[in-house]
Amino acid sequence: MAVEIIDGNAVAKSVHEEIKSELAKMSAPRRPCVALVRVGEDPASVSYVRKKSRVAEEIGIESRLNILPEGTSQEELDALIDKLNADDSVDAILVQAPLPKPLDERHTFNRVRADKDVDGFSSANLGLLCQENPGAFVACTPAGILELLKRSKVETRGKRAVILGRSIIVGKPLALLLMKKGVDASVAVCHSKSENLKEICSSADILIAAVGKPGVVLADMVKDGACVIDVGINRVPSAEKKSGYKLVGDVDFDSVAPKCSKITPVPGGVGPMTVAMLMKNTFEAYKRHVR
Ligand code: GUN
Repeated sequence: MAVEIIDGNAVAKSVHEEIKSELAKMSAPRRPCVALVRVGEDPASVSYVRKKSRVAEEIGIESRLNILPEGTSQEELDALIDKLNADDSVDAILVQAPLPKPLDERHTFNRVRADKDVDGFSSANLGLLCQENPGAFVACTPAGILELLKRSKVETRGKRAVILGRSIIVGKPLALLLMKKGVDASVAVCHSKSENLKEICSSADILIAAVGKPGVVLADMVKDGACVIDVGINRVPSAEKKSGYKLVGDVDFDSVAPKCSKITPVPGGVGPMTVAMLMKNTFEAYKRHVR
């Protein structure tokens, strides 16, 4: 059977259209607003924040860029977050990760008020997710992956899902989402110390790679007919590109794709869904604030 390439751009576009049409029906005194915070000039972060801002404006969500220089102290970053927390015209706050050293990501994520924490990285929202509380803001990449699986009609109930990577941004919240009632997958989470990686991955009906290294998933680690979700967005040098680099995932796409029932490409798979879920969470925060 031919492999289906899951089109993340198309699914993200449907999510954007749904938000736009719901927003158009609302009679609220102001637009939704997301504050985007970036510290330093990490090229990937510059590009992600720009993309988030552009998509927000296309949908009708105001985006306020807050760019702090490398060398910003924790106290200065905290002061900005406190100001945004107190600003009633700001519905949502996103602090782009990774933060330059020595800034403390855990401290920073917890500083964001829970009702504006559209990244879902605060202990409050992670706790709500763990409780399966529907009021939780769920981290955008895991939420986007679940939406892709749902809209691509991938069965999760009773299926074996294997996640490579245990980060707060992807692996941990994704494990909670996949195991929750109604989704009902049997979840294994692997990491750099995992033994028998090939054996565990080969047992997966749904294999999700969120490692951040190219070529981690090879064909001999994938079961025939598996659904493979590639979260990696890695820049590798390329003479063919004007920029001097191209984007590849964690999965060796060319060798793995022929074995899969479905697979996400990089770019154009999970990436656009992360942005779409940020918009959805921002819109949700806005509705809670204006109602
Ligand atoms: N860095 C990589 N992914 C994300 C994300 O979803 N949110 C934030 N804030 N930073 C990230």
